[in-house]
Amino acid sequence: MTASTMTNSTQPPSAKPAPPAAPDIPARRAPAEPAVTFDVRHLNVWFSSNQVLDDISLQVPPKAVTAIIGPSGCGKSTFLRSLNRMHDLVPGARVQGSITLFGEDLYASHVDPTVVRRRVGMVFQKSNPFPTMSVAENVTVGLRLNGVRQKALLNERMERALRMAALWDEVKDRLHANALSLSGGQQQRLCIARALAIEPGVLLMDEPASALDPLATAKIEELILELKKQFTIVIVTHNMQQAARISGFTAFLYLGRLVEFDETAKIFTNPSNQQTEDYVTGRFG
Ligand SMILES: Nc1ncnc2c1ncn2[C@@H]1O[C@H](COP(=O)(O)OP(=O)(O)OP(=O)(O)O)[C@@H](O)[C@H]1O
Ligand SMILES: [Mg+2]
Repeated sequence: MTASTMTNSTQPPSAKPAPPAAPDIPARRAPAEPAVTFDVRHLNVWFSSNQVLDDISLQVPPKAVTAIIGPSGCGKSTFLRSLNRMHDLVPGARVQGSITLFGEDLYASHVDPTVVRRRVGMVFQKSNPFPTMSVAENVTVGLRLNGVRQKALLNERMERALRMAALWDEVKDRLHANALSLSGGQQQRLCIARALAIEPGVLLMDEPASALDPLATAKIEELILELKKQFTIVIVTHNMQQAARISGFTAFLYLGRLVEFDETAKIFTNPSNQQTEDYVTGRFG
């Protein structure tokens, strides 16, 4: 049952200017390539009577990493979850505003939220491989649920996803071992492979490395930098250095509002807003 309601077509245009082109996007791009992945306008989210997001408008650029930062409880996960309609699963959650993905209204009445979640993959803070399944089964579970049966195709997609997640070399000889026999960092990359196997256009990551040691974190960061060549990535992180290392754009949320959204270099060296400066320099949060 959906608890969400969306209003959209009558919204005024966002007051926020579009973000500048990402540095790694060539100025002359193929005409068919969309300029914006998610266009979020006047997004408000409530849990029962508690308003958690307040009038958020921002445009997530394609094939770049956008980091969401801000103190605990400011609404980062709530924002991320509204990008793949996860709040539909929460009784009492209400979403208002508009979000388009490559120009299509994600919350239009004819749009099936399960199809949205297929197009917008998600990786969580705590890795969550299916405990009764093998490494291989974990990667192909989404495909099998979508009706793919041919063994050759499943194997091909599994290998491709594991290679993309930089895990293939470590697991190719133990594909049939239980997923929980992998290390914590490997389990998180397995979850990334599982998300990639269904070939989403976009990857959302909610603090994907916060439970990992520095070496495993470095692997995930390397992987994110590789994946952004093909995917739009939106990542929540508490780690300022991580945001600075891996993202092209950063959004700073505070108390449910978007304080500032800009190129990461600007946010971390010369933010326009005093609150942003105080947060990125560690004066609060
Ligand atoms: N399912 C839910 N039901 C009720 N309230 C919720 C739900 N999810 C989040 N909230 C509330 O929304 C607010 C924002 O939570 P959210 O998880 O988005 O914060 P966050 O910025 O991700 O924090 P953290 O950094 O601690 O993960 C909090 O006050 C939280 O209690
Ligand atoms: Mg969170």
